[in-house]
Amino acid sequence: MICDYEGSDYRTRFWENADRAYEDAVERIAIAHLLPPRGRRIAEFGAGFGRLADLYAGYDEVILLDYSRSLLEEARQRWGQDPRFKFVAADIYHLPFASGVLSAATMIRVVHHIADVPAAFAQIRRAIAPGGTFVLEFANKRNLKAMMRYLVRRQSWSPHAPEPIEFVKLNFNFHPRWMMQVLREAGFDVRAKRSASYLRVGFLKRVLPLRTMVRIDALLQPTARWALLSPSVFVQALAAGSGAEDATREASLVGEAIFRSPRSGQPLRREGDLLVCDADGTRWRAKGNFYDFKAPL
Ligand SMILES: C[S@@+](CC[C@H](N)C(=O)[O-])C[C@H]1O[C@@H](n2cnc3c(N)ncnc32)[C@H](O)[C@@H]1O
Repeated sequence: MICDYEGSDYRTRFWENADRAYEDAVERIAIAHLLPPRGRRIAEFGAGFGRLADLYAGYDEVILLDYSRSLLEEARQRWGQDPRFKFVAADIYHLPFASGVLSAATMIRVVHHIADVPAAFAQIRRAIAPGGTFVLEFANKRNLKAMMRYLVRRQSWSPHAPEPIEFVKLNFNFHPRWMMQVLREAGFDVRAKRSASYLRVGFLKRVLPLRTMVRIDALLQPTARWALLSPSVFVQALAAGSGAEDATREASLVGEAIFRSPRSGQPLRREGDLLVCDADGTRWRAKGNFYDFKAPL
């Protein structure tokens, strides 16, 4: 099951017309600390309208992938003139990539919509070359506010229980220990963490200047080394494994050759505005820099 943002006003409702400059700023700081500044090819999974795409300025190729065509179209309006960008409508559970073609990947504010995290991580791990970096943000169920609410019995579920909590349909918060274990089982080696958004509290936003809030957050983020009690956690994980074949693939496949049919994983060939898979008979719309792997024609 997929949390469908097709046609949603996410950009204006959640970011532009809401008081979230603090969250946006501190997320950028966390990512800048965890993501290699330069690289060959990066993909953002669940990129939405491309809010964070400027952070990938040091990459030769940037792939923004999302299930929502309409949000991706917004991203394309903003970034589409830059020849480094590709916009890919696809489902994280069925990625349209050959294995090992990415040198880095990010997934920010997305895994809380993912019901089967191991399945999603398996797809992402396969797409990243061994040694490549995956920067993941997840919503932490064991955060200070949840712990206080549980203590005074204003919240029924325990923030200490390891399993994910689905507090609204297709909206999950995760225990850090559970998330680290699932990352490890998917073939990732967790190297660094940052705790973000400790000050995500309405009244603090009203009394403290944004710059002060962001500075305090930047100072608090490295405390993730000792305790993960913030509502938002950022993780740097490296794709483990020695697959020499995959490692060379990342460099050797160029342009559209990185794509595979999400149905069968088999190669595609260009035919006008389509990518066609002879092996499984599927045909996918691919016009300019916009690739649609949501559903075959
Ligand atoms: C809360 S938004 C975050 C967007 C962006 N990462 C940001 O931080 O601005 C969640 C995004 O995840 C996408 N998404 C959710 N499930 C997905 C899936 N299975 N495959 C691809 N994208 C998905 C949604 O379409 C939506 O754009």
